[in-house]
Amino acid sequence: MASKLLCPPPRMAQTCLRRTQHFGPAISRLPQRRHVSAYGYEQAKALTVSEYGEPPAVLRLHSHSISPPHSNLMTLRFLASPINPADINQIQGVYPSKPTFTTSLGTANPIAVAGNEGVAEIIALGEGVKKEGFKKGDWVFMKAPGFGTWRTHASATTNDVVKLDDQMREGITAIQAGTVSINPCTAYRMLRDFTTLNQGEWFIQNGANSGVGRAAIQLGKKWGYKSINVIRSREDKSKEEAMRKELQDLGADVVITDTELQSQGIKDQAKEWTNGGRDPIRLALNCVNGKAATAMAKLLSSSAHFVTYGAMSKQPLTIPASMLIFKDIHFHGFWVSRWAEKNPEEKQKTVADVLDMTRKGDFRDMPVDEIKWEWETKGDELIGKVRDTLEGYRDGKGVFVFGKT
Ligand SMILES: NC(=O)c1ccc[n+]([C@@H]2O[C@H](COP(=O)([O-])OP(=O)(O)OC[C@H]3O[C@@H](n4cnc5c(N)ncnc54)[C@H](OP(=O)(O)O)[C@@H]3O)[C@@H](O)[C@H]2O)c1
Repeated sequence: MASKLLCPPPRMAQTCLRRTQHFGPAISRLPQRRHVSAYGYEQAKALTVSEYGEPPAVLRLHSHSISPPHSNLMTLRFLASPINPADINQIQGVYPSKPTFTTSLGTANPIAVAGNEGVAEIIALGEGVKKEGFKKGDWVFMKAPGFGTWRTHASATTNDVVKLDDQMREGITAIQAGTVSINPCTAYRMLRDFTTLNQGEWFIQNGANSGVGRAAIQLGKKWGYKSINVIRSREDKSKEEAMRKELQDLGADVVITDTELQSQGIKDQAKEWTNGGRDPIRLALNCVNGKAATAMAKLLSSSAHFVTYGAMSKQPLTIPASMLIFKDIHFHGFWVSRWAEKNPEEKQKTVADVLDMTRKGDFRDMPVDEIKWEWETKGDELIGKVRDTLEGYRDGKGVFVFGKT
């Protein structure tokens, strides 16, 4: 093998510095065989970056070894990790939380593992970790963004992870566990934390077919709220109709396109939906911005709340001053990472609640595009799948599902 082994003796090592198999789309290489060495070193692969940029240009599949865990270390094997819009923004260098650049994966220059969300299984652990109540086979989430989840294996400490206790895990698939902590939590908190909607009151949202949007539809329905849901128009009208139907099946009361939202007569139409305007629309959830978001704000009742949590159109949010002065609309921002950092226990409860609904069949999975990641899967294949997510109008969220790694 061409790589150069730079490992200290197993007892001393945290991560074996095996230099350096760094596979990008343009680099040809021999097929790799996974093995666990006689000393129990775990062979790992990760999608990494050494600089910010467009994902297809900067992502590389990097191989390295992880030494057997001791004291407060554990070795994780990832099970499912989604590709969220924030992961893409983070790779581009335009996201506020940065990935962790390190040389501990055996490179001369720092690299960072991409991805922020996922679920992993503990496959080996040190004595200190056992004392904290963890065991082999436990499932864990990452406690905070920036750990790097697009990887087969990782070395972690108990500070990096939150355990999914056996009760929470029962009946839950790896994809459900690996996608619960960001999208459903965001929808849950935004529906609850900015105003108290009464049963029968309305909220309106754009990006309604996104992971967050689908979660909001379902949670809103469960809690007795009514929803107006805005999706982007599709050229293929049969696909648009299929999307309306899909969201109505989830519990959406009204589904309209962004074109319909900006058409003349939308205010009269909204009156019809809301009992002649007597039932207020008291909350808006916005992840798009631009003119369609302004149009959404115009449908709100006086003193309503407008929460912005994303910027998919890359346009600014433009608000007429009269909405602030005369209509008294309250504009907020929400970032689930900041909320979770301040409210770790509430985060656990929120996750537990959504998993409980999932287990009971009250909360349906978002559609996913499963990207199989086996030990032999090539870097260009994985990176190609990440590139695909840069296009809109997708049928499902890309999720890395790890097989025999
Ligand atoms: N603030 C927070 O804490 C937080 C947490 C989670 C997510 N988010 C944000 O919420 C948004 C949705 O995330 P997600 O993971 O739920 O998304 P997702 O499931 O990956 O779906 C992407 C959504 O974005 C829409 N979209 C794509 N390109 C667009 C464009 N140019 N203009 C308008 N809409 C576009 C898609 O609509 P089409 O099907 O029409 O392409 C789809 O509805 C993202 O902005 C994300 O960053 C924020």
